[in-house]
Amino acid sequence: MFRTNTCGELRLGDAGRTVTLAGWVQRVRKMGGMTFLDLRDRYGITQIVFESSDNEALNEAANHLGREYVVQVSGTVAERTSKNPHLPTGDIEIIARELRVLNPSEVPPFTIEDESDGGDDLRMRYRYLDLRRTPVRRNLELRHRMTMEVRRYLDSKGFLEIETPMLVGSTPEGARDFVVPSRMNPGQFYALPQSPQTLKQLLMVSGMDRYFQIVKCFRDEDLRADRQPEFTQIDCEMSFVEQNDIIELFEGMAKHLFKTIRGIELTEPFLRMSWADAMKYYGSDKPDLRFGMKFVELMDVLKGYGFGVFDNAEYIGGIVAKGAAHYTRKQLDELTEYVKRPQIGAKGLVYARVGEDGTVKSSVDKFYTQEVLRAMADKMGAEAGDLILIISGDDTMRARKQLCELRLEMGRRLGLRDKDKFACLWVVDFPMFEWSDEEQRLMAMHHPFTHPKDEDIPMLDTDPAAVRADAYDMVINGVEVGGGSIRIHNAELQAKMFEILGFTPEKAQEQFGFLMNAFKYGAPPHGGLAYGLDRWVSLFAGLDSIRDCIAFPKNNSGRDVMLDAPAPLDQKQLDELNLAVELPEA
Ligand code: AMO
Repeated sequence: MFRTNTCGELRLGDAGRTVTLAGWVQRVRKMGGMTFLDLRDRYGITQIVFESSDNEALNEAANHLGREYVVQVSGTVAERTSKNPHLPTGDIEIIARELRVLNPSEVPPFTIEDESDGGDDLRMRYRYLDLRRTPVRRNLELRHRMTMEVRRYLDSKGFLEIETPMLVGSTPEGARDFVVPSRMNPGQFYALPQSPQTLKQLLMVSGMDRYFQIVKCFRDEDLRADRQPEFTQIDCEMSFVEQNDIIELFEGMAKHLFKTIRGIELTEPFLRMSWADAMKYYGSDKPDLRFGMKFVELMDVLKGYGFGVFDNAEYIGGIVAKGAAHYTRKQLDELTEYVKRPQIGAKGLVYARVGEDGTVKSSVDKFYTQEVLRAMADKMGAEAGDLILIISGDDTMRARKQLCELRLEMGRRLGLRDKDKFACLWVVDFPMFEWSDEEQRLMAMHHPFTHPKDEDIPMLDTDPAAVRADAYDMVINGVEVGGGSIRIHNAELQAKMFEILGFTPEKAQEQFGFLMNAFKYGAPPHGGLAYGLDRWVSLFAGLDSIRDCIAFPKNNSGRDVMLDAPAPLDQKQLDELNLAVELPEA
């Protein structure tokens, strides 16, 4: 037998047993006549002791071990004299009798311990070594447990796991595609799926009724902490359902995950908020509801007193930071600088402190009487000791987004964004379309297959921008962890949607003919949702970036620095694919 036990397994009850372990050398320490070796594998660390009096040659061999050598050790389990309460195996050690080096190791480029001395880039280049570190490995173990629970839950609800192709056609909506040239079809390209959206709809036309897939999706978009160019969806579709059926089933799945993975029992239904309210009160379609600071509009209270900035503003909104009146001038200047950063772009920040005696002192005192400021504080529900922060602007949506950034920053500064606290929310009633300045046309906010709200369908002809969709997102702690919609299942309505999106009937037929044709053969009403698995795992693991729960992620430039991909192709490959590469002049 190669090994009798793993390095995380032996306890005091095993004392006296003869065992064989195998693993990596975490550390070797010499103390007096003894050598201590920490042997590590996926399951834990076990201390091995080499006693020189016992076997000089063995002790000598142990002294020559380097970090990350792969070894096999046999010996006897013994109770430790000085126990380590921090290790599950900390009550025992193995008195070594035999040592075999299975493979030596070069000195690793960084220390493989919980706190590594390796920088980000170095650890990514040697990701296989980084994955030996316990915190990183734990994230992958968590990911595994979550996918197991997802499969268990969906199986129990009658879902079939069905694979869809990775080589599909390019579609013009959504993000940019990653494309793959076809050797057998010269000059033609596949695209990698941004999601299996249309395929899962076709599976509903096929009568599969309930489909799911834990599936890789590919999007060529700018990367952020919660975005990777390839990521994993828990992709689902159901037939003969209404929005509420889908919401209830996937809320059930969220609760199942909270319970089985985090041990948190969520008994209340998740809050539902319309997109319009989310924008009005939080300036975001994914509000972080772990804390309050709901926006209060102040146009009616603050306009008309000669303060030009407010008098000319389209929007004036404020938030109350509870108990933050002690904020110093320096801290407020910092906050002002924060919102003035180009990424946020506010022109300035107005603040007011509510004193212990109830008087309100603001940065614009010369324009406002105490009565007006008090009326403002009352409208906002601000009390003694609170700090009021106000942002204004001539574009309501933009000003709300700026106030949203300020709210999130204040939440962070006041310690209100606790990673162990969870606020779950459905955002519903999204607009069907949004205007794209770049494309100079309406774009589908969710995707072109989303069903408009029945009562809004007449407005498709008169005021499409006002049409709301049967679309919903799940948001937890300000992260969009999933989204979906009821789909169009009627060929004419689908054709109309493409028309509003600016497709000619020919173009729509060319791009989406397969779907519209399928709809002619008895498509059932259907809808679905996709959860972002990477985001769920990082939320449960308390990670700042989804990268840390992906075994081999890409960096911020979309590169895999370990594989050194992407890379140029050699001429032979290019020729086979009929490709010529022409780079713009640097
Ligand atoms: P959507 O585009 O909203 O919907 O994607 C669903 C969920 O996938 C996650 N996600 C991402 N995670 C990491 N990196 C990315 N680049 C990334 N992009 C999206 C998010 C998001 O909520 N076909 C539809 C779903 C449907 O309608 O059923 C879709 O793809 O958590």
